[in-house]
Amino acid sequence: MNHLDPNRHVRGESQYLDDVPVQQGTLYAAVFESPLAHGVLKSLDISAARAAPGVTHILTATDIPGINQIGGIVPDEPLLAEGHVHFRGQPVALVLARTEHQAHAALKLITAEIAPLPIITDPRVAAAQGELIVPPRTFKIGDSAATWAACAHVFEGVAESGGQEHLYIETQGAYAFPTEMGGVRIISSTQGPTAVQRHTAHVLGLGMHQVEVDVTRLGGGFGGKEDQATPWGALAALGAFITKKPVKLVLDRMADMRMTGKRHPYSSDFKIGLDADLKIVAYEVTFFQNAGAAADLSPAVMERTLFHATNSYFVPNVTATAYSCRTNLPPNTAFRGFGGPQGMFVIESAIAKAAEELGVPASEIQRKNLLREGDLFSYRQQAEMCHAEQAWDTAARQYNLAGLQAEVEQFNEQHKLVKKGFSVMPICFGISFTKTPMNQARALVHIYSDGSVGVSTGAVEMGQGVNTKIAHVAARTLGISVNRVKVESTNTTRVANTSPSAASATADLNGKATEMACAALRERLLQHACLEYTLNYEGLEIHDEQVLAAGVSADTDWEKLVSSAFWKRVALTENAHYATPDLHFDASTNTGHPFAYHVYGTAFTTVTVDCLRGTYTVDALRIAHDFGQSFNEVIDRGQIEGGAVQGIGWMTMEEIAYNDEGRLLSNSLNSYKIPDIYAAPAVLDVHFLDTPGHPKAILRSKAVGEPPLMYGIGTYFALRDAVRAFQGHTALPFSAPMTPEKVLVSLYPEFVAANSDQQKAAVTAST
Ligand code: MTE
Ligand code: HPA
Ligand code: MOS
Repeated sequence: MNHLDPNRHVRGESQYLDDVPVQQGTLYAAVFESPLAHGVLKSLDISAARAAPGVTHILTATDIPGINQIGGIVPDEPLLAEGHVHFRGQPVALVLARTEHQAHAALKLITAEIAPLPIITDPRVAAAQGELIVPPRTFKIGDSAATWAACAHVFEGVAESGGQEHLYIETQGAYAFPTEMGGVRIISSTQGPTAVQRHTAHVLGLGMHQVEVDVTRLGGGFGGKEDQATPWGALAALGAFITKKPVKLVLDRMADMRMTGKRHPYSSDFKIGLDADLKIVAYEVTFFQNAGAAADLSPAVMERTLFHATNSYFVPNVTATAYSCRTNLPPNTAFRGFGGPQGMFVIESAIAKAAEELGVPASEIQRKNLLREGDLFSYRQQAEMCHAEQAWDTAARQYNLAGLQAEVEQFNEQHKLVKKGFSVMPICFGISFTKTPMNQARALVHIYSDGSVGVSTGAVEMGQGVNTKIAHVAARTLGISVNRVKVESTNTTRVANTSPSAASATADLNGKATEMACAALRERLLQHACLEYTLNYEGLEIHDEQVLAAGVSADTDWEKLVSSAFWKRVALTENAHYATPDLHFDASTNTGHPFAYHVYGTAFTTVTVDCLRGTYTVDALRIAHDFGQSFNEVIDRGQIEGGAVQGIGWMTMEEIAYNDEGRLLSNSLNSYKIPDIYAAPAVLDVHFLDTPGHPKAILRSKAVGEPPLMYGIGTYFALRDAVRAFQGHTALPFSAPMTPEKVLVSLYPEFVAANSDQQKAAVTAST
């Protein structure tokens, strides 16, 4: 089975927010943002803007009828600034005008008087000043402090990873309509329709039943619309509620890049201890997460970092501590991997450091320490149905690990100015929302009297193919063709109290609910068939749209069966609720069973570095991945390819730059580089591991959305390997992304050391 959406996408038929026909009388909104990163908001002069052509309203915090608060985990984020501003780009006022152009023109006429306050952009500085979003947390198993003395080798270091811009193709936006009951209806580009509904209800002082949120599909989310679609939905709704006119608010690309949060940059300290046999005995790590100016999802992201601090390895003594640090940057947020990649980058750095110091290949240390069945994670969940070693060993056989390593060595012996590098990147990623109550979903299934089927769930389609998967689950459970099934828009009035489409768990949660609802309908129809056609219930099934009694055609098909059930007044609608069983986690001891299961895999990366220019290519990415029993290989392979390339971008070229004033310098695609087809690996192989899948995965097909991003981490270490082959193994900092500039500097450490003072002087003089 294929992906159901792409034909419509390439023909331009798919409807995104901006394709919704605009109603007459619609007002366009534009947001006035704070020009300073921190200060006291003394006054706002809107008089000139208010008088500008086409402008009908300018709304500020005082116009909010309900509560001026949209914080999800911590109530620390006003919808519109009040009293203080905490980051550049923070929404301060909403301009409504008859045209989009008029709304944007009026923004330039607003002036804010702000008394500046000190600006913090560095998470370690924030931590030193006690600027924490939530108290620090520590995950601990064994006793690392007591172990160091007994270790044969101990290494310490610092690892830094940068932020990442989501760069969904469709920017943030919403279109809100007043409804006849005094409420609002919002078409929103959000991963979390219920979050938009809940916060808008609070902002407007309404019950949630007065706020309807509808989502057809997103042009990408990648986590950036899990929480951060909410302000635009709530602002459009505020405009519609006050003016009683439809209000449309869509951010242009640069506004989106300036105003929204990104992947969290981390700065971390590590200490790793190994025994003489290269077994990792102890690991200590302290993470400083750059949260930005408000909590947003940062505490949950920080928690997932702790869950993934040891990646795919068993370490008996672990002490992992994380600080979520408040800085004057836009609040950072969910991004594919949700803190996991940041944690995994640090232990991979620690292993690389040990390998480099000991003069052994990192792969030797990695392979020796892979998780095995029954091993404990630091949070005391056991690795069950663990495929870490299987993934590694299958990849090693399939792709000839020793051969690939030998090829690189041989190449490097023969070439002076071009070097190749190689790395292995195992991954282990926990599937479930780490906040246990979020692991629930519902489905509402209608069988229409003509035999066609409509399915509503809380799942949001953002390109990951969840609608195709849900249609497939419904068709397979009912025994009918997928062409009869339509997956409806995601709407809060049809399916309520939904978790966001996130944590890679959307297909599992909503798919299981769909399966339950369809199974109930199928049973009801079969019971009806027994009576109607006097058949034995034993062995009765619907297969390929035919009713079969013990494998023999019962002379009735799906359409006849549904029609006769309808006329006999059999209920043809079902609603089901699914809650992932057996999950628990105690946040006071940081122990429990937070994940339904883990996903495993191993990637081999080969790169070539031009040692005169610092430029490089990713020659090959070869992956053995644990899909379980994939029921849609086209979609699943697409997720691996897309996720891996997104991970390569994070690790190599995507560099978010803020200046000391908290102004985003990488504010457009001129100054922020993302991978294109030329940056993608020339060879990208995906091998489907033969694993049974997990009973908690939908149809035993494991969650696939986020895990592949972490294969991209391998590219960082392959580049490092190539650089070291050229520059003679001088120590290098662990600092991602490994941009061509950074590669060039790393290739010539003595040159840079000798010239850096002169360079600094030159830069100072020229500015
Ligand atoms: N794939 C596409 N094409 N577009 C996206 O926005 N988001 C990723 C991943 N794959 C995303 C994507 C993220 S961050 C998550 S959590 C999952 O898809 C969400 O969908 P799932 O739970 O159905 O895997
Ligand atoms: N993953 C992704 N999104 C989330 C999570 C999580 O664990 N918790 C809350 N939002
Ligand atoms: Mo994905 S970061 O959980 O939306």
